[in-house]
Order: sequence, then C-alpha cells, then structure tokens
Amino acid sequence: MKLKSLLAMALAGVMMISAGCGGGDKKQETKAENKAPQKLTMYWGALEDFMVKDIAKFEKATGIKVEAVRMSSGETLARIKAEKNNPKASLWFGGPADGQIQAKVDGLLEKYVSPSAAQIPDQFKDKDGYWTGVYIGYLGFASNDKLLKEKGVAAPKTWDDLLKPEFKGQVVSANPGSSGTAYTMLATLVQLKGEEEGLKYMKALDKQMKNYQKSGTAPARLAGQGECMVGISFLHDAIKYREEGMKDLVLTAPAEGTGYEIGAVSLIKGGPDQEAAKKFIDWCLTAKAQEIGQTVGSYQFLPHPDAKQPKQAAELSSTKLINYDFSWAGANRSKLVEKWNKTIKE
Ligand code: G6P
Repeated sequence: MKLKSLLAMALAGVMMISAGCGGGDKKQETKAENKAPQKLTMYWGALEDFMVKDIAKFEKATGIKVEAVRMSSGETLARIKAEKNNPKASLWFGGPADGQIQAKVDGLLEKYVSPSAAQIPDQFKDKDGYWTGVYIGYLGFASNDKLLKEKGVAAPKTWDDLLKPEFKGQVVSANPGSSGTAYTMLATLVQLKGEEEGLKYMKALDKQMKNYQKSGTAPARLAGQGECMVGISFLHDAIKYREEGMKDLVLTAPAEGTGYEIGAVSLIKGGPDQEAAKKFIDWCLTAKAQEIGQTVGSYQFLPHPDAKQPKQAAELSSTKLINYDFSWAGANRSKLVEKWNKTIKE
C-alpha cells in the first residue's frame, strides 16, 4: 500500500480516535456537567450589598448560578416553615444563629458538616452540625450626637439609661419577631435580668420607642439620619453608616454587658439544590470568602482564625459581652417573641 494512503489512513485513524475520545470525553463531560450542581436558591440574612458581592464571587469560582432573597431572620424562619413540604431554597446564610437554632429544633434544617468547618472554632458552630458561624456582631446603641447635644443629653451607657425621660419617643429598635437583631436584644435582656424582670424592662422600653422597624439595620440608619436619638442595632452596621457619611453617629455599648450574634449558614431540609448548597457552605467558610463582607461595609468579626479581621471594627473589641446562651435563645425564640408580644400589648 502506497505510503501516502497509509499516512492518510493513519491520520484518519488518529482523527477518529481523538474525535472518539474527544467524543467520549465530550460524552463524559456532558454527563459530568449534567451531574454537577448548576443552580442554587438561598435566603440571605445579612446586608444586600454583601449578598451581591458574595454571590458574584461564588458564581465566578464555581459557575453555579445563584438566586438569593434578602429577608430578616424572623421572616426567613416563617418562610422556611411555610415551605416545609415544598422547600424553594436550599440554604440560609446570615442573621443571628438564634434563628437557625429555632429552625433546627423545628426540624427544618439538614445536618451538614462541611470539611471547611474543621477550621471554625467549636464555640462558633453547632455541635450537631446543623449550622456553622460565618461572622460575629455585637449589639449596641447608635446615637445621633447632634440631637443629643441639642438636648444636652449624654449617649446611653447602660440598658437602664434608655428608660430616662429624655429618651422618651426617641428610641428605635426593630421588632423581635421579624428581626434577628431585635431578638438578640430581647434574649439579652432576659438573660441579664431574668424572664420576669426582662419582660418588665421590655414593656418600659416599649414606652420609649418612636417606632419598631422590620430589620435590625434600620435603627442605626435612622439615628444617623437624625430621625431618632438612639437606634439599637449591631454596632458594625453603625460603623458602616458612619463610614458612608452619617458623621453624627456615636456608638456606645451597655456597660452591664451586651448580647452578640453568631451569623450562621445552614442547609435547608429537602431543598432542591443540596449539592450546590453544600458547595456554597464549603466555600463561604474559608478565610478568603469570610473576608469579602468588609470590602462592602459589612464589618462583622470573623470566626475563621486565618481571616483578616475588619480594621474598621477594631474600636468594638473592648465591648463587654454577656455569656450569651445561644442554645437557650434559639430553642426559645418563638416562645419568647410570643411573650414579648403579649407583654407590650397588655
Ligand atoms: C445586618 C447585620 C448582620 C445581622 C443582620 C440581621 O445585615 O450586618 O450582622 O445578622 O443585619 O438582620 P435582621 O433584619 O434579622 O435584624
């Protein structure tokens, strides 16, 4: 057989094989692609700008298309409960762990111990593997210095300061039912004063309120805008607003001790995108991913020991924290909110 035709055959053969392998690879790839998780729907409990940046980074890293809805903690809990038999989302990111713990107790979460969770210290994750900490925030008072000066009033330094006549109608918090921030406040006062005295305090504080907001970030923003004298929020949010131009904001934390949150991530039981959700959890627990928030004004402290802590929140490191009982606060969230509602309506 002529060399030329031999070469042609060999060449054709090579092309056949490569096409075949390629084809084989192609078939493998398509099958693999079909298997790989392609989309993820999640509920997001932290700030919107943080959500947008975090998701963009995750999509870029994995090619998984994400849809997220930002809701306050109590809203997310209610929504996951309502969707229990036909879950729409597979993952809950952010908002204080109290909400996820109540969801765990209500059987709404799937256990998932991410390999990345090994890096997160035990005090910032669920011992049974139903939630893992992604950030830490301290509760405090965001006051408007201009309004304080006009009235010749000092910024509140204790929880009882908020009950002073000069703050009547001048305090704003969120509603503990909708907001994880405000529930942290309610659970903190009950832990500080006991249930009876704590609810008595909340009734007295209710008389000081200008109004209640849905989300816990609003009170700090309203104080920054001069709409009220004191907003009760997580202090890192007040820092965000001060950095964004609300220069009249002054931050104080209750001297008797304040509550704090562990923002948590968890898998929703029966969610449609479990594999993609696990990939998100594996990713968001890394030091690199935890450092994203501070690039868009979310200055929570970070549980991953190698994560660069936000320098903007350094002023908060001397805040006196209570020994916040997360298991108790989470397991009693719905019951305590009900008691609060009843108490302030009496
Ligand atoms: C903000 C804070 C978070 C906090 C969340 C709670 O996003 O930066 O640290 O977890 O509010 O929101 P909520 O509306 O439930 O009070």
